[in-house]
Amino acid sequence: MADWRKKLAKASLADIMKAAFVHRILVPAFNVAYLPMVSAIVEALRRTETFALLEVSRPDITRFGAESFRAVKEAFDRFGDLSLSRLHQDHVPVIDEEGQLVDWSSLIDEALRLGYHSVMIDGSRLPLEENVRVTREVVSRAHPLGVCVEAELGAVLGHESGPLPPYEEIFASGKGFTDPEDAGRFVQETGVDWLSVAIGNIHGAISGVAKDQKKVEARLNIEHLKKIVERTGIPLVLHGGSGIRKEYVLEAIRHGITKINVGTEIRQAYEQALRTHGKIEEAQKAVTEKVEELIVTYYEIQGSARKLAEYV
Ligand code: 13P
Repeated sequence: MADWRKKLAKASLADIMKAAFVHRILVPAFNVAYLPMVSAIVEALRRTETFALLEVSRPDITRFGAESFRAVKEAFDRFGDLSLSRLHQDHVPVIDEEGQLVDWSSLIDEALRLGYHSVMIDGSRLPLEENVRVTREVVSRAHPLGVCVEAELGAVLGHESGPLPPYEEIFASGKGFTDPEDAGRFVQETGVDWLSVAIGNIHGAISGVAKDQKKVEARLNIEHLKKIVERTGIPLVLHGGSGIRKEYVLEAIRHGITKINVGTEIRQAYEQALRTHGKIEEAQKAVTEKVEELIVTYYEIQGSARKLAEYV
């Protein structure tokens, strides 16, 4: 194994993400909606020598084919490559997209027991104080194990089953955008490692006919992002990565967005190829190609793993 790969394989995820933030190198996070996507995503990372996270959320398990947090961890142990990737537990909500209370505590503990490298507690539907309290609790469990914690502040809409307000209305009003002052305070009080923010990004649909349709092309309020990054100083995360206009994405990376979550686009590539060809291998090929295309022509981060290895 090349020296840079040995170095990155040994580095902690916290250090890798800090280096990525300082040097403005994007670490994309690809959602595993079906188990065979694990090896397909890793193959694209190998071909392009790019560092990324593989991540899995509750909807990936309950609505699609990721099966369980354990099954994804087992697939990652088999096909993953620590010099190019780590495994993240995406979106453990305290209140879910249907307004139901979730047993977040057990889900987080499950990922910690399984050996996930990072977890996300999503208290964004709670009042600020409650979000702080729950996030601190997760940080106190994860950090002693060397596990990073992501939290969310603001409203990244899109996963709800009801109709959304028109996109232009959300963007123009800034309704639900992360408040920069709150964000500064939240980071101070929780000790969280990365913060997911709302600056115009929305999630792709996960239910109804909309889940199979092309997502709205979102924009980002970069001025708002600048205010958040000034007050927080930690890696910021953009959820709803599918279908954001490229120029906004590149500008956001220059201003502190370090992790972008991509779900809909690669899930649809998998499902579409499976419908057309009826073979899992073809669906995997479609995912590898899509991930490669995103890395090379959209984010323009091919070779990021070598660069990160220099800085950790
Ligand atoms: P998209 O499905 O819109 O790419 O969003 C993915 C995501 O944010 C998962 O947390």
